[in-house]
Amino acid sequence: MRTPLIVANWKMNGTVEETLKFLTRFKRSWKAPTSAVEVVLCPPFTALYSLSVALSEGLPVKMGAQNCSWQENGSLTGEISPSFLKELGCHYLILGHSERRTLFGETDEMISKKVAAVLQQEITPIFCLGETGPEREGGKTLQVIERQLSQGIGGVERGFFEKMVIAYEPVWAIGTGLSATPQQAQEAHHFIRDWVAKQKGTALAGTTRILYGGSVSPQNIASFMREADIDGALVGGASLEVDSFIRIVNY
Ligand code: 13P
Repeated sequence: MRTPLIVANWKMNGTVEETLKFLTRFKRSWKAPTSAVEVVLCPPFTALYSLSVALSEGLPVKMGAQNCSWQENGSLTGEISPSFLKELGCHYLILGHSERRTLFGETDEMISKKVAAVLQQEITPIFCLGETGPEREGGKTLQVIERQLSQGIGGVERGFFEKMVIAYEPVWAIGTGLSATPQQAQEAHHFIRDWVAKQKGTALAGTTRILYGGSVSPQNIASFMREADIDGALVGGASLEVDSFIRIVNY
């Protein structure tokens, strides 16, 4: 019912040259996965155009971006609008990543405005949330997740919510090599699906894809994908190498 989704978040890695080299090697190593899986690459803004040209040559991979403005145009020096990204062929947009929240001061309110702007362009938001280490140790995990859900996407109308992808990324697991256990992730994912059921109805809860992110590797991907409410992964470091990313895609 929910096609698995594997998303590469390259963060601030990947020049145009490196992106094209990755694609060349990716094409060479690519074997169609044995079961259906959707694959998305999210390089930096500067590599999107070259990637979109290369992808038009028939690789079964979609493209996403890592951030955008909540406005369509105007006096916003340095910002990129969702419609510019749509024009380049972005199907997905990572929003509310913990690095944007903690390093660039993005609030739940800002993220919710970005989600609305992206949905207006018929781009699929990958809405990220997750607790910090101290929040987990203080027993506040589910409370934090609930706040991020209700303030970030609580206002999205059901008709638009169909497009939503949610990514649970515990902050303490990002880039640390210390992933959540599949059980910890499943507990959070189940809670998120339950929230969607209560707020948006059981039909949408059944179709909404919820990804896990945080030190996903070729070694641990299968253990996450076995869990009932884990529908894919948002992969950072391990998506930068063709071999490890392909092993993750072919979990
Ligand atoms: P790592 O896979 O490097 O832990 O990064 C996770 C992440 O932040 C993906 O968005």
